[in-house]
Order: sequence, then C-alpha cells, then structure tokens
Amino acid sequence: MGGTIDRVGVVGLGQMGAGIAEVFARSGLAVVGIEPTEDALDRGRGHLQRSTDRAVQRNRLSAEDQQAMLDRITFTTSMADAKDCGLVIEAVPEILDLKRAIFGELDRVCDQATILATNTSSLSVTQIAVATGRQSRVVGMHFFNPAPVMKLVEVVRTVVTDPDVVSDVVALAGRLGKTTVSITDRAGFVANALLFGYLNRAVTLHESGYVSRDDLDAAMDLGAGYPMGALALLDLIGLDTSYEILETLYARSRDRLHAPAPMLGHMVTAGLLGRKSGRGFYSYEAPGSGVVVADQGASSTSSRTTPDLEAAHDVRRVAVVGSGRRADALVATFAAAYDVRRLSEHDLDQWGRDPLPAALAELQSCDLVVDVGDDTLIAAQGRFGTFDGLAPHAVLATASRTHPVTECGAATSTGRPASVVGLHVHPAVRRGRLVEIVRGVDTSDATVATARGVARRLSAHVLVCGDRAGQVVHALLVPLLNDAVRMVEEGYASADDVDAAMRLGCGFPRGPIEMIDELGLDAVLGVQRALHRERGEPGLAPALMLERLVTAGRLGGRWGRGIRERPAG
Ligand code: 3HC
Repeated sequence: MGGTIDRVGVVGLGQMGAGIAEVFARSGLAVVGIEPTEDALDRGRGHLQRSTDRAVQRNRLSAEDQQAMLDRITFTTSMADAKDCGLVIEAVPEILDLKRAIFGELDRVCDQATILATNTSSLSVTQIAVATGRQSRVVGMHFFNPAPVMKLVEVVRTVVTDPDVVSDVVALAGRLGKTTVSITDRAGFVANALLFGYLNRAVTLHESGYVSRDDLDAAMDLGAGYPMGALALLDLIGLDTSYEILETLYARSRDRLHAPAPMLGHMVTAGLLGRKSGRGFYSYEAPGSGVVVADQGASSTSSRTTPDLEAAHDVRRVAVVGSGRRADALVATFAAAYDVRRLSEHDLDQWGRDPLPAALAELQSCDLVVDVGDDTLIAAQGRFGTFDGLAPHAVLATASRTHPVTECGAATSTGRPASVVGLHVHPAVRRGRLVEIVRGVDTSDATVATARGVARRLSAHVLVCGDRAGQVVHALLVPLLNDAVRMVEEGYASADDVDAAMRLGCGFPRGPIEMIDELGLDAVLGVQRALHRERGEPGLAPALMLERLVTAGRLGGRWGRGIRERPAG
C-alpha cells in the first residue's frame, strides 16, 4: 500500500512537523497540515516558506516548483480533514498524554484503513497505540532534523503492529528518498539512544568548566569529523526537546549518564531553547534562524587561555618514539614542518650504553619528543625515565589517551615534570586539524606555550585541557562507540543498522562500528576502561562484547578481523 498512499496528514507543524510536511510535498504527495489554532498554523506556514525559500535561493528548487509544492499542502485546524488520508503522522511535543489524546481523536475521525504514525523521539509507540482502537495500524516513523536533509527514517513496530503496515511505511519512506532502519519499540530507538548520551556528556563536560563551548564544538568537528559540534547540534534539535528525550531515556535506563545535565534544565527554564528561540548555547540572528551572531553573554564561550610566554622554545628537531600505526602517522605529520627522527621502544633499551647508539645520540639533540609507544603505563613510565637524560629545554610529550600526563611526569626527575605535556595530533579533516594539549599537574606555562607553537606550525586548531582520560574528543566519542557495541550485543540492532542510523540520521562520517574497526578495538577498550576507572560511572563500563573480542584477538578490520567478521569455518 506504501505505493498507493498519495495523501498524508501531519499533525503539528513545528520545526520537525513542517520539515516532514515539506518532505512529503516535495515527493508529490498531497499534505494536510494540522495545528489547533490559526496562529500555530501561521507559524507552520512560516517554517515551510522559509525552508523552501532557502532552497530556491540556492537554486535547488525553482520558484514554480516551490509554489506547486506549497499548493499541495492544505492548512487546517480541523483533525477531521485528515479523514481520508492514507497515513497521518503526529509531530507534536514529547508529552505522552498529548500524543495519546491526538491519537484517540485521529482514531475517531480517520478511515479504518488509515495508518497512524508517530514521530516520537523516545516515547513508547505502544503506549501511544493503545489510545486507539487500531493498534495494529499504529507505527513509529521517526525523522531526523532537518527532515528535508537527513536521509534516515526509523520505522518502529510494536508487538501488535501488522507487518503489512510496516512494509507500507518502509515503502512510503523509500518514495521520499529515505533509507529506513526497522526496529522494535525501545526508548530512543537506535539513533537517539546513542546520540543523546553523547550530547548529555558534552553538556556535562562543558558545564564542569573543563572545555569551552567553542573548543568543545571544534573538537567534535575537527577531531571526530562530526558535521557539527555537540552544543550547536543541541541548539538545532532544541534544548527543550533534548531535555525531554533525556528524561525519557533516564526513566528507562536509570543510568545517571542519561539524567539531563543541570545546565540543560536551567537553559530551558530561562527560555534558551536553541535556534527556535533565537538563543541557546549560541545566539542567532532571529528565532528560527541558523545564522550565529555575537553572544549575548550567557554561556561561557571563551577558551581557557594559557599565556603564550616568550619562554616558549623554538622547536626544530622532533623525535617520535613508537612503532605502531599512530607513530607512522605522527612522523608523516611532523615531517611536513620539522626535522623528524623515529625511534622504536626497543631503541630506548640501549640507553646508557657507551658509546651511545647513533639513534639515541640524535635523540639528545631533539627539542620535542613525542611518545606514542607501547601503551602500558609501566612501559610509558620507563620511557619517560629515560627521557630524563635529554636536553633541559626539551619538551616531553605523551600521546597516550589513557595514562595521565602527571603519571608520565612523575617518572622523570625532580624539575622535569614541568616539561611533560600531553599532545594529541588528530588527522586533518576537511575543515582543518585539531591538536589537544593536555596540561598535567606540574606542566609549566612555558611547556604549554612550546606545544602551542608546535600545533600552530601544524596549522591546527589548538585546544588546551586538563589531565583527564580521553581528553575531549575521545572522552565524548568512545562511550558512544561502546554504547553502540552494547546495542549490537543486546541484539537490538545489527552493526549495519547502527552504522546506517548514525551516518544517515546524524551525518556521522562513519558509523560507530566502522569507527571502532578503524581506531582498533583494543584502543577503544583502553580509553573506555580508563574513563570507567576515572569516573566510576557504571554506565561507562566497557561492553562485554568489546572485552571478549579483544581477548579473542579481534582488533579491527585493518588488523585482520573486526566486529563484523564471523569466525572462519
Ligand atoms: N532545513 C532545511 N534544509 C537545511 C537546513 C534546515 N534547517 N539546514 C541545512 N539545510 C540544507 C541546506 O539548504 C543545504 O542544502 P543544499 O545542499 O541542497 O543547498 C544542505 O542542507 C547543507 O546545508 P549547509 O551547507 O548550510 O550546512 P552544512 O553542510 O553544515 O549541513 C546540516 C547542515 C545538514 C544540518 C549538517 O550540519 C548535519 O548533518 N548536522 C547534523 C544534524 C543531525 O545530527 N541531525 C539529527 C539530530 S537528532 C534528531 O533530529 C532526532 C530527533 O528525534 C531529535
């Protein structure tokens, strides 16, 4: 029947509802847009007009097609006008009683054959369905914001949804040019369940003062390759909607990591709802606009500044210590700007020999040593003990994502911990490169200033942060990856569906499972363990499946076998 649905109703023409109405109308379907009042209808019309004006300005839509498209939409305050629609989708705020009342009314006025769909982000489709006398014809049809752009629709079935209804909705979504992931009824479904834990952690990290708004968003953009930073995304989704989704997730999981960050609640109370109200973490030109303007001064935006002291040393020669793939990448990156030496962990075993092997003699003339060697703490401390013998001005950097900088500094002699810093050089992405500089308890301003100079020479965005596991990028990214593995482990969604949901619903450059395979399962597990140890949150415990796969030597696609590959035979 999905092919035969040519008239649809959309109840609620807010940000999401208007976007959904646009998607249907663009695909040639007749749309009945419903709001309870004329004022609300006018706002809905305004959303549709602005969104399609923008498409016209960008030459994506002709003025005639825009008019034809808008003409396909009938605006009404009467639910009864949806009577002969093949499908009616509801997109009103996340209030269960409100949704149930609307479904009761739709059930009363619509033809028996009409499919009733909810765009709920996290509420139970089953609880909504039982407000009707046609539970088998009720389904979740979850779009992503901005609906005209994001390619994913999650199709959610309850235990009583008729399989033919699911097929019809999947077929309809296909006609809209969307890809579907078909799943059962669970809070947050696939994408929101993974995304909102991450967004909440981001607000918590920002609220704690660990990272400024701009640094946090730059970190996820440049360090993780996400299409927008977490705080900018919250503004796009709406802080009120985000708060409601987190409350629902928390009620289900009782995982403190889903309890909405207090800052989010305060901002909602203050009416800072994001783009829709003109101000959230960022300030916008006008309510509903995505154009950022200078701040009106509420949230803390500025970077934690570290004075650029003249004491910064000029770095000419760099040594990279390590034998793995990360060391290869670092050598290639530094080679573009510096004279680079490469040493393996074993080379350092020769330290103290007389005469000193040539490689070690050269190490003594390096101004910066970046350690990316074997990632056990004891081994790293051993190497930092060796670095003690280097030139007094040399900066000693660790690229470990799991060991505190302070622990590496403590392995050096008195006075030397001041020269020890964390340095995380991320691969360059389309919009640039990120370098995270980590300040240990004893790291001196001069050392940080030297590290900043190095990052600048690599043309990178610099982020200076405190000594915590995963710093900013991995502290936010890795738990999302871990949650994704847990979701696959629980059998809620396949690895392919999880990846598709995050790529197409949230614009991630790669799905979480793909990303784990790329980073290495052991590396991801190492960061997750460190975060769990450091924060003590039960929700940060590594997924059992991740532990087991690493034990079995499944380290990722590029090391032979990753999460997806089945055992031979
Ligand atoms: N409405 C309509 N179209 C929009 C739009 C909007 N709000 N914002 C951007 N677009 C269109 C533009 O017109 C442009 O189209 P074109 O290529 O045909 O000209 C295209 O999107 C790209 O826009 P821009 O060049 O202005 O900007 P970007 O390249 O930076 O992309 C973005 C903008 C698509 C929003 C991108 O940043 C992105 O993918 N962000 C992630 C969004 C995301 O995660 N969404 C899911 C949120 S969770 C959710 O919705 C679930 C719910 O339950 C809460």
